[in-house]
Amino acid sequence: MCGIIGKIGVDNVAPDLIKGLKSLEYRGYDSAGVALICGNKIGRCRTSGRISALEKELSNKNPCGIVGVGHTRWATHGSPTKENAHPHLSPKGVFALVHNGIIENAENIKKDILPRDSLFSSQTDTEVVTHLLEKYYKEDPVRAISNTCRCLNGSYAFGILCEDFPEKLFAAANLSPLIVAECETGNYIASDIIAIKDKIKNVYGVYDGEICEVTLDSIKFYNSDGKEIKKLPEKLVAENSDAEKDGYEHFMLKEIMQQPEAVKNTIDSLLKDGKIILPHVKIQDSFWKKDLEKIVIVACGSAYHTGLVAKFVIEGICNIPCSVEIASEFRYSVPFVNEKTLALFVSQSGETADTLAALRLSKKQGAKVLSIVNVAGSTMARESDNVILTKAGREIAVATTKAYSAQLVALYALGIFVSEKRGTITADKEKSLITELKKLPVKIGETLEKVNESVKSVAREIFTVQDVFYIGRLSDYATACEGSLKLKEISYTNSQVYAAGELKHGTISLINQGTPVVAVASQRNVFSKTLSNIAEVEARGAKVICVTDEKMSENISEEYENIVVADTIEEFKSSLLVIPLQLLSYYTAKLKGCDIDKPKNLAKSVTVE
Ligand code: AGP
Repeated sequence: MCGIIGKIGVDNVAPDLIKGLKSLEYRGYDSAGVALICGNKIGRCRTSGRISALEKELSNKNPCGIVGVGHTRWATHGSPTKENAHPHLSPKGVFALVHNGIIENAENIKKDILPRDSLFSSQTDTEVVTHLLEKYYKEDPVRAISNTCRCLNGSYAFGILCEDFPEKLFAAANLSPLIVAECETGNYIASDIIAIKDKIKNVYGVYDGEICEVTLDSIKFYNSDGKEIKKLPEKLVAENSDAEKDGYEHFMLKEIMQQPEAVKNTIDSLLKDGKIILPHVKIQDSFWKKDLEKIVIVACGSAYHTGLVAKFVIEGICNIPCSVEIASEFRYSVPFVNEKTLALFVSQSGETADTLAALRLSKKQGAKVLSIVNVAGSTMARESDNVILTKAGREIAVATTKAYSAQLVALYALGIFVSEKRGTITADKEKSLITELKKLPVKIGETLEKVNESVKSVAREIFTVQDVFYIGRLSDYATACEGSLKLKEISYTNSQVYAAGELKHGTISLINQGTPVVAVASQRNVFSKTLSNIAEVEARGAKVICVTDEKMSENISEEYENIVVADTIEEFKSSLLVIPLQLLSYYTAKLKGCDIDKPKNLAKSVTVE
């Protein structure tokens, strides 16, 4: 998933392209490039690595042009080199193109459509598109784009320049997010509205199969056959508020510390007169009471982990089976979902390709679709009949924290709402759950303060090790999954997570003298079992780090490194226990000098499969 931008303006657009690319860097930072039409010639500049490298390169060249495109890359096909960086030029240089997505039939196009002696200067799937454009070009770029797109399988958002039309910018999209915007100093195309630092007058989504032609004073849309279509502007707003570090060294630490507020804002948006309300959910009561037979939670990465935690809460209070599925598996399996299923999709970005595909599949199968997303104008929010918006604000660090915690409380609230509708909890239980839910923001704040120093000292003890193990049972296992992922993704420490009872069936053979084992132990009904599993690894010389809460800490040996969070009810413990695990990954990565906000090989929004 890459970030693309394009602008046609009254002045030189290069500075605006760079500004926009910097805001899109969360989508990939393997290489970057811009192309501009100067006079009637396309000029291009590309570098491997960060936008800052491109900016430096450009400062030597000072390119100038009133129309241009830009790209920041997350490598899918071809290593992160300058040769594979976008924009790609067509063989005679008539077209320049930037692409976000994957052309799945690129090799077939090379074999079956393009001349056998075609020369390619990169290893990318994208470059075939520039060859097709030139193949189909007869002085009509829109026609050439339409014929080209007809040959493509896969996902794409394109920004295109054509040397013969120096006053125009072209774009096309399919299964990849793209917007076009009318602004004060010119018109833009972009993967995300956040890239536009200009005053926006109107913004349009460019949807599957659509093409658009942008000049300084007009924006035209065409369907996949190249026939002009009319479109209305949309209400999409850019959340710029959180774009500064506000004195924190990293966005991740700032966002960890913002969790009390993110959780409070999310809970407040779902509460009215002491009851849970779901303003953007339009499902009939009869469905909850009579029709609903099962709940399926589908997501990727950390969002999937929120589902693992929520399963225990939802099954516990709604008395209904709740399965949790990895979206990339679910979408190609035979999902048993139908009109009696609530299919829940969880996503921070609302753009994750696998989760989106799973959503579309479930919709086709008649399931009730409800998405929990953190970006109001995202594709998942637009395509879902029912939505719960988390209020974490914009999340910039690739490793999610505040959005994760906001998703957890949104899932708890949904569980309470459904159980009240189904009559599976008493009014007293509902009241006590909501009372405790409202206390979570303060307890998260207390926990952040309480554990910070003890976590820092554990990080100092483990930052040099290569392998760390996480264990837990039931929702503690789910919490441990998130802790393990956080450590892996930002500190590059190899960590494995296991259901505590499973360790002795093989993996315990990897435990040696001093191997750090992070044990999450809070769930009352399996507490003594978890303690036995901790004793098993301790017996093999493990360095035990036990993450628990005040009440349960009384029963834990002081031999271990104990990290103790504030108390809450069984159902919500994960929201507090995950805090020290987030901080542990942060301080470990910091001690290792890792690029915490932009870990290598990762990106914030995964729009390819
Ligand atoms: C988490 O820190 C990662 N950034 C990643 O696992 C993420 O949770 C996953 O890609 C899902 O993203 P989404 O919530 O935007 O759908």
